[in-house]
Amino acid sequence: MASRPRIDVSADFESLAHRVAQWIVDLACATPNRFAIALSGGSTPKRLYQLLAAPPLRDAMPWERVHLFFGDDRFVARDDPNSNYGMAHEAMIAHIPIPPQNVHGIRREGTPDDAARAYEEELKSYYGSGALDPKRPLLDVNLLGMGPDGHTASLFPGKPALEVTNRWVTGVPEPGLNPFVPRVTLTYPALDSSKSAAFVAAGADKMAMMKRVWAGEQTLPSARINPVGELIWFIDRAAHGEG
Ligand code: 6PG
Repeated sequence: MASRPRIDVSADFESLAHRVAQWIVDLACATPNRFAIALSGGSTPKRLYQLLAAPPLRDAMPWERVHLFFGDDRFVARDDPNSNYGMAHEAMIAHIPIPPQNVHGIRREGTPDDAARAYEEELKSYYGSGALDPKRPLLDVNLLGMGPDGHTASLFPGKPALEVTNRWVTGVPEPGLNPFVPRVTLTYPALDSSKSAAFVAAGADKMAMMKRVWAGEQTLPSARINPVGELIWFIDRAAHGEG
């Protein structure tokens, strides 16, 4: 791993979710202009989304300046239980006063690669350029999870999406893990164009893989996240091996 991550340990899952939610609100309040967050899927961030969508954090967040993106999504209908958009909508988006045009979901249209191209255009239009400038990151906060095989977003070990550098978004016809539905994912260049990239991981079953990622094993997609800004791992004590 090129940039050394900051490790931030919370007592348990609930305090971890509170810690990350408050961190996001503080960053958004301290940022004068629009504020772009890439959401992740999986089971860990749901509680964090619920906290952002309820008082007191909901009322502290400058939602009119916030733009929500997705680091990846499964290529399924939005009401499918596997949809990352569906989960984020139910837990947060439906309950916050965000302008609808600031919610940038990955649409299920055509093939996964068609959807990836359309999403890339949406990201470029938000960014205002087709070329990423390291001095002006695309994302303010890039929320990431780590799967049991070391995947992050929908970048799975050994899959072609890992090597895509000429696109911001790509289709993933064959994911490496359950649910085995095609996906659409941001590529490394887009994921790394972030001021803060934050992994959120909880539970003892994450510990062994996390340590391999921190040791920089390059076959593990999570180990290759190298943002232009800071890299933080928000974890709980169990993931840290403290019981
Ligand atoms: C996805 C996710 C994925 C997730 C990890 C961790 O769409 O599959 O974005 O990358 O973040 O698999 O998931 P858990 O939080 O469920 O452990």
